[in-house]
Amino acid sequence: MTGKKKMNKHTPIKLPASLLERASEKYDFGAALRVGAGMPAPVADPAPTPPAVAQPAPAPLAAPAPAPVAAAPAASVSFRTAAAPPAPAPQSERFAHIDRQRLTAANMIDPDGPVTGLSEEFRIVKRQLLLAARGGKGLDPIDRGERILICSAHPNEGKTFCAINLALSMASEKDNRVLLVDADFAKPSVLARLGIPSSPGLMDALANPSVDVEDYVIATDIPNLSILPAGAQTNQDTEYLAASRAAAVLDQLTAHDPARIIIFDSPPALAASPASVLALQVGQTVVVVHADVTTDSALRDALSLLSGCEHIQLMLNKTKFSPTGRKFGSYYGYGA
Ligand SMILES: Nc1ncnc2c1ncn2[C@@H]1O[C@H](COP(=O)(O)OP(=O)(O)OP(=O)(O)O)[C@@H](O)[C@H]1O
Ligand SMILES: [Mg+2]
Repeated sequence: MTGKKKMNKHTPIKLPASLLERASEKYDFGAALRVGAGMPAPVADPAPTPPAVAQPAPAPLAAPAPAPVAAAPAASVSFRTAAAPPAPAPQSERFAHIDRQRLTAANMIDPDGPVTGLSEEFRIVKRQLLLAARGGKGLDPIDRGERILICSAHPNEGKTFCAINLALSMASEKDNRVLLVDADFAKPSVLARLGIPSSPGLMDALANPSVDVEDYVIATDIPNLSILPAGAQTNQDTEYLAASRAAAVLDQLTAHDPARIIIFDSPPALAASPASVLALQVGQTVVVVHADVTTDSALRDALSLLSGCEHIQLMLNKTKFSPTGRKFGSYYGYGA
């Protein structure tokens, strides 16, 4: 973004660029992305100004006093309604403790911990995504912008890491409720990363029309954060996602709570076909770029596969140095 916008005397002091902005500086794919008919320039940051200044109310980065985590040594999923009087509709509200020690050990945001470089980075990124999802500052909300796919070209580039951190960061805001969906059906990892035992999820709901997907949503002891597991593995995941029931089930998730931001942890675009089908169902896609590792050609191929989504942004991950001179390695546990 730097240097692309004309400054005038009303332009606020520019804050350091976010990971999204730095990614678009590093990878200039505007032209490639605009190849699709009627496609806007997705790499261009949708926020007219750096989001940290665009948003007047900063997020309370320390999560608002969630349940004491130390008291929950082993993660568990319980059924809150089990002890309730017999209910006519057996709607089970499931609940899990999220293992903070696991988060810390994996260098992720600790919702009970202090503000860190990492939490600041995700705070800036989330502002941009929320602005696009909700509108504001003269921008209309984008269609289905509350559904955000976190993807990348290859495995191991940090999709799950970024999806979880983004979900934690967004959930720390009072006005947001966040549903983190494990959409890596062949290799689900969200539950394990959070210390939650495996349980049925989205794919089970897609495969069985008599199931209410909401029954598989797990509330957590992090206020405003719930999880939808990937569900049973099948070799027909792409077909299920492409079927009309998938659109209906995803609409159901939004209809159940219109204030919900839904973050999908995707499989890699170049290794699995569900990613491109998921891209058709979301309003925003963040493509995680492993700094200095993801090649231009892999990224171009991934972007082309994900072009069903009109709003794609790149996010640099595992950066050691920023082009602006800021150093991020230590924030991410990569170097000092
Ligand atoms: N910025 C980071 N700082 C520290 N560790 C990171 C960072 N990004 C990713 N990792 C670690 O790198 C490993 C791979 O990340 P992750 O599992 O998120 O990748 P992925 O793209 O989801 O991979 P896959 O496609 O196999 O699901 C994990 O151990 C994760 O904790
Ligand atoms: Mg992953």
